[in-house]
Amino acid sequence: MSKLILVTGGTGFIGSHTVVELQQAGFDVVIVDNLSNSKAEVVDNIEKITGKRPLFECFDLSDRALTHEFFKKYTNIEAIIHFAAFKAVGESVQKPLEYYRNNLNALMNLLECMKEYGVNNFVFSSSCTVYGQPDKLPVTETTPRKPAESPYGNTKAVAEDIIRDFAHVNSQAKCLALRYFNPIGAHPSALIGESPVGVPNNLVPYITQTAAGLRKELSIFGNDYNTPDGTPIRDYINVVDLSKAHVVAINRLISGKNKVNYEYFNIGTGNGYSVMELVNAFIKATGVNLPYKIVGRRAGDIEKIWADTTLANNELGWKAEASIEDTLLSAWNWEKKCRNIE
Ligand code: WQD
Repeated sequence: MSKLILVTGGTGFIGSHTVVELQQAGFDVVIVDNLSNSKAEVVDNIEKITGKRPLFECFDLSDRALTHEFFKKYTNIEAIIHFAAFKAVGESVQKPLEYYRNNLNALMNLLECMKEYGVNNFVFSSSCTVYGQPDKLPVTETTPRKPAESPYGNTKAVAEDIIRDFAHVNSQAKCLALRYFNPIGAHPSALIGESPVGVPNNLVPYITQTAAGLRKELSIFGNDYNTPDGTPIRDYINVVDLSKAHVVAINRLISGKNKVNYEYFNIGTGNGYSVMELVNAFIKATGVNLPYKIVGRRAGDIEKIWADTTLANNELGWKAEASIEDTLLSAWNWEKKCRNIE
């Protein structure tokens, strides 16, 4: 029986792109997803891209009994990449208990099953949000974490602590967290991409929906920050580059190249772009007009953050490659495909 990589949240934005890269690297994959924020047709589209259909189980990982049943059925799991979580910052402020219950119970169920069923390799989808607004830029992995700006962000910080403490008493477990900066873009096939439910919270899907005519104009949340053009700065990373980092992480753990049994890495480009710079880069890359207006700041937004990627570059041997223009074009091609726009 071939070894399987379990990808939780594998029909989601980053999860689906990671399944594609895993399959193209020769791994067999089983996806677990409860489809609370994605569609089952993503599995069909993954198969169209790679020619291999991943296995797919639909259930909620915060259900302890169902999670144990899964591991009793799939006794050949070699590693886990854990994406499945609620991730809307604003929603988490309104529904903190749902976020803590879902995100942390799912994690703890998985870790408990790792121990019980002998699965030793675990990659966790973390976020630069654990740094809050850093005092010094760019952020390295030794930059002190700061109190999260939202319950969502806090579930990532608490999750890292749970994994750290789990690894400390389970020496056979090898755990690794990837702290993403801002994932954007879509697979070059335009068969998978970001599909926010309802009005997009994030900048790039809002830009592409505005360009497609679904939204009247982009609201830019504040231009009175202490940045060159007054708009906030972020490190936008291509989702395919990000997905490749997960394949590197899985290979590192499976081959035992990890230095300690809980590691974490910043996964960004190392370049910061302001909102206005991103808007102008989108217009330049696509030739599409983009109506926008400047409005007040959004609560919870930090001013600026971008990564120092030295550790990931040197220790993992991974580096982001895509240009911001190509990445924005991939997001636009995906939007056009979704809306049947030529
Ligand atoms: C980026 C910039 C906004 C929308 C969040 C999560 C983070 C990760 C990525 C999951 C900000 C501005 C946005 C709009 C705007 N998610 N903006 N108008 O907030 O940096 O990060 O998503 O892992 O954990 O915190 O991303 O895309 O929402 O915002 O002006 O309509 O775009 O103010 O400066 P953010 P974002």
